[in-house]
Amino acid sequence: MKTRITELFGIEHPIIQGGMHYVGLAELAAAVSNAGGLGILTALTQPTPQALASEIERCRSMTDKPFGVNLTFLPARNPPDYPGYIRAIVDGGVRIVETAGNNPQKWVGHLHEAGIKIIHKCTSVRHALKAQSIGCDAISVDGFECGGHPGEDDVPNFILLPRAADELKIPFVASGGMADGRSLVAALALGADGMNMGTRFIATQEAPVHENVKRAIVEASELDTRLVMRPLRNTERVLNNAAVQRLLEKERRLGADIGFADIIDEVGGVYPRVMQDGDLDAGAWSCGMVAGLVDDVPTVKELIDRIMQQAESIVSKRLAGMLG
Ligand SMILES: Cc1cc2nc3c(=O)[nH]c(=O)nc-3n(C[C@H](O)[C@H](O)[C@H](O)COP(=O)(O)O)c2cc1C
Repeated sequence: MKTRITELFGIEHPIIQGGMHYVGLAELAAAVSNAGGLGILTALTQPTPQALASEIERCRSMTDKPFGVNLTFLPARNPPDYPGYIRAIVDGGVRIVETAGNNPQKWVGHLHEAGIKIIHKCTSVRHALKAQSIGCDAISVDGFECGGHPGEDDVPNFILLPRAADELKIPFVASGGMADGRSLVAALALGADGMNMGTRFIATQEAPVHENVKRAIVEASELDTRLVMRPLRNTERVLNNAAVQRLLEKERRLGADIGFADIIDEVGGVYPRVMQDGDLDAGAWSCGMVAGLVDDVPTVKELIDRIMQQAESIVSKRLAGMLG
C-alpha cells in the first residue's frame, strides 16, 4: 500500500508503533520495522542519553529498515537532559523522530538540519495546525480513545480525523483505538494516511514486557479503562485496577485541591514494576479502550500481515462489492 506516510518514511505499510514507556525498546521497534511498519524507540525509558545511544545501536543491529525515536516533552520541574537525548538521536543516525507532549518548536530546526523527519503526536486540530506551522513533517492525531494522554478536549477519532483532514496540508496518521484492518481502512476513509498503534502492539510476542501485561490486555474489555489525573489537567487513560480506584477516590475527596504529591504512590515509578515485574496493581498504567478488540498475542509480523490482508480484502471485496 502506498500513502503519503509510506512515501515520507520509506516504509512498506502505513502502520506506526507509537512510543511507549518501558515498552518501546529495540525488540519491539525492530520487529515492527522488520515487518514493514515503523518501529519507534522511547527515548525517556533510557536513563541517560548514553543509554539511548546504545539502544539505537542495538536496534540498528536488529533491523536494516527505518525506525524512529519518541521524544516526550513532559511537564516536569526538573526536565530530562533533552539536548543530550537529541544529540544521541542525531549522532545515532536516526532519521525519524516522534515528538509528543509539549510543542517541539525549540528542536525542529536542529532536527531538520540533521535530516530528521518529525511526526508530532497531538490530540487536537489546533495543536496539529501549530505543529504544521512550525515545520513538522507529519502528525499523529491521537483521539479520545487512546491509551496514554488523550488531552482535555475529549474528541473521539470519528470527529477528530475528518476535522484534521479538512484543515491539515501535511500527512497524518490516525492514533487511538486502532487494532486491525478495519481500523486502517476507516482511518484512510476519514482522511488519514495511515495509523499509529500503542496498546495493540503490547500484546505481541516480541513486546519486551511481562506476560501478565499481555494477558491483562487480552482479558480487558472496552469498558475497563479509566481517565485519571483530570483535575491536574494531565489526563491519562489507564487500565482499571485497585491503585486506579484509590487514585480516583483521592480525586473525588480532594477535588480541586489535589496535587501531584497526593497521588505519587499511584503514579510514581510504576512502569518498570508493571512492564518488567508484571505487578499489574503497582499503579496507574496507560492502556487504550482498544483493549476490547485485542484477543490474541501474535508475532508482530503476523499482526501486520493480517492487518494488511484484512484491509485489502475490505477495500477490494466488501467495499468494491457494494458499488457493483
Ligand atoms: C503503556 C503505554 C505507554 C505509553 N507511553 C507513551 C510515551 O512515553 N510517550 C508517548 O508519546 N506516548 C505514549 N503512549 C501513547 C502511544 O504512543 C499511542 O499514542 C497510544 O497508545 C495510541 O492509542 P492506542 O493505545 O489506542 O493504540 C503510551 C501508550 C501506552 C499504552
